[in-house]
Amino acid sequence: MSAENEKWIAAIASAEYVKNGMLVGLGSGSTAAFMIAELGKRVAGGLIMKGVPSSDATARLAKQAGISLLSLDEAGTMDINIDGADEFDPQLQLIKGGGGALLREKILAHNSRFNIIIADSGKEVERLGKFQLPIETIPFATQTIIAELEHLDLQPKLRMKNDEVYKTDENNYILDVDIFQKDDLKELNTLLIQIPGVVETGLFLSSTDLVLVGQGNKVATFKK
Ligand code: A5P
Repeated sequence: MSAENEKWIAAIASAEYVKNGMLVGLGSGSTAAFMIAELGKRVAGGLIMKGVPSSDATARLAKQAGISLLSLDEAGTMDINIDGADEFDPQLQLIKGGGGALLREKILAHNSRFNIIIADSGKEVERLGKFQLPIETIPFATQTIIAELEHLDLQPKLRMKNDEVYKTDENNYILDVDIFQKDDLKELNTLLIQIPGVVETGLFLSSTDLVLVGQGNKVATFKK
């Protein structure tokens, strides 16, 4: 079974958790796109819900799918948040931000009562870090942060797109770093977040309540 199909069946399973009247955080990325399409179908079939998008790209997709949107200010707390991940481990810790939307994604996860991650089986790992950890930085401080991260042996790489520095929806930069050798991720995250100019990291260590993973033609469930 292809990764695309696994993403799709996980996304369909996640849509089952969305009930009438709910406010829903809408994640970003290719797996979340399947979920948005499925919710759009359900809205067309009579489901009443509103979404809060985690990126400009997701806002566009949700509008095309016919989902009504609210800003975070209007929504306040969301009933449920559904998002993808680049990696998840047995403790339901995540690396996110491969698509660059980690900042708003983390804000939505923080402001949601229940967080569901949807993924294909390739995202399941014993130890986080084969995927490089994205760190969002403000442009003004990025060069000094690169030097500091080099000193910490994290091998930072400034993310580029089409020969230009990649910019997030918040007009920040992304540094992708190698954390595979790091054992204490909580300590690492605290260290990173304390560097002035680091806005957020793609380590989501305790927000996830449920992971739905497509495995072949079945969906496996991992709970906290
Ligand atoms: C977006 O910034 C990310 O956090 C995505 O959730 C993550 O990259 C997963 O994306 P895919 O579903 O496209 O693999």
